Amino acid sequence: MSELLPVRLGVNVDHVATVRNARGGRHPDPLHAAEVAIAAGADGITAHLREDRRHIRDDDIHRLKEHIRKPLNLEMAATDEMVAIALRVKPHAACLVPERREERTTEGGLDVAGSRQHLAPAVQKLVAGGIRVSLFIAADEAQITTAAAIGAPVIEIHTGAWCEALAARENERALAEFARIRAGVRLARSLGLEVHAGHGLDHASAETIAALPEIAELNIGHFLIGDAIFVGLRAAVERMRDAIARGRSKASAP
Ligand code: PXP
Repeated sequence: MSELLPVRLGVNVDHVATVRNARGGRHPDPLHAAEVAIAAGADGITAHLREDRRHIRDDDIHRLKEHIRKPLNLEMAATDEMVAIALRVKPHAACLVPERREERTTEGGLDVAGSRQHLAPAVQKLVAGGIRVSLFIAADEAQITTAAAIGAPVIEIHTGAWCEALAARENERALAEFARIRAGVRLARSLGLEVHAGHGLDHASAETIAALPEIAELNIGHFLIGDAIFVGLRAAVERMRDAIARGRSKASAP
């Protein structure tokens, strides 16, 4: 019998703000979405405060932090402005993501290996502020070992390239990408990192990746908020939870 913990589901509410901002005003409210998602079984809420504030705004982050009763994961660039905001707001977690082209590896994650000098102080400040820091990176050995070396307790593996290959029905590329993810999550766990994953996940890919016993958390936004248009947010979260639980039931302890 497996003694694995369930995979946590972080629901990303950015695109609720995208819809709100299309008209201005307050509707639909990302905080209301967060509350519905939590009532439906989300383990946490993720929101990305971008430098250009194109969806989530500062006020959304403050209201989420004040009102939700599950952990808030703030996605942010490693800029002085965002680090200062995180240290003021004190979310449970901060996931450092690339926002500029030059901060990205070829696979789209943060180039931790190439920007170590820039990232290490941001990681240290956030960790010292009591925030659980994760780095959004490709499943690449150099990125993973550098993330561990600069003291990040968590990484989030970028699943975008794998999900793109699945969507394009490019089976060989999808298998190769998944093999890379599997090797990466194993390496990360062997280094003592907690491993999350996200980007582009739908029911099938969430089920597949939840079967990797090293995965502790999935952060999912676009597909889930899109599904909510058809079935409602509560049902969309429940359906995603079911997919993740199906995947986890196939996992055995490493
Ligand atoms: N994790 C991180 C670090 C992200 O930047 C995003 C996209 O905002 C996601 C997860 C969620 O990706 P998606 O919206 O494609 O589910």
